[in-house]
Amino acid sequence: MSRFFITGDTHGEIDAKKLNNKNFCEHSELTKDDYVIIAGDFGCCWYGDKNIEITNPGYEVPPRHRTRVGKDYYMLDWYQSKNFTTLFIDGNHENHKLLNTYPVEEWNGGLVHRIRPTVLHLMRGQVYTIDGKKFFTMGGAKSSDIERRTPDASWWEEELPSEKEIQTAIDNLGKHNWKVDYVITHCCGNSMLNKFDTRHYKTDVLTDFLEEIEQKLDYKMWYFGHHHIDEQLDDKHKALYRDIVEIIDE
Ligand SMILES: [Fe+2]
Repeated sequence: MSRFFITGDTHGEIDAKKLNNKNFCEHSELTKDDYVIIAGDFGCCWYGDKNIEITNPGYEVPPRHRTRVGKDYYMLDWYQSKNFTTLFIDGNHENHKLLNTYPVEEWNGGLVHRIRPTVLHLMRGQVYTIDGKKFFTMGGAKSSDIERRTPDASWWEEELPSEKEIQTAIDNLGKHNWKVDYVITHCCGNSMLNKFDTRHYKTDVLTDFLEEIEQKLDYKMWYFGHHHIDEQLDDKHKALYRDIVEIIDE
């Protein structure tokens, strides 16, 4: 039986140390049939992998990235070398234009971008059934630091989902009769957002949508990142950052 772990933002190399072999002790017991899920701000698809011309033929490298193209390979190799399979949703701090030029494939009932053989981007509005567990994923979030960022170099407008992606989520949840086991998002719905300091986090089209889902969806547990805090907000919502939580069915 597969094991599932989930953690919060990794931000490329910056916050990935929590998953090194010393800090993530379970690593030695795992295989590629076990999964670590990163709840957004993965940050390893930023400048591009070393074979970007082959893997992403439609990608236009932003001028500010030209001297750094290929630099993502180190962290992607690192994840690929792990005993587990890495699954991530996108956060706000991702190069969405790059992510969206990876080929899309079907995997366990939902759509993914396969970044490396065992490093997969779980796309927005998808439901995956993995070893009997159903996961609904909805990446994206609004950045609270836009003023310090440069469009198409360190910030991408696709950080918030399109109407089409929201409709995809509605359609896919409908196909599963609005019942899943686990919800994985980067930001959260409005009612959970209200538990945080909202001077920095405002509601937006995505938090509104996630709140709608809250009211309708049957689920066991909702995990999200984005707020850079580890906190169990109530019996069904956990904000994650540094914690690595194993998902165990009761
Ligand atoms: Fe983050």
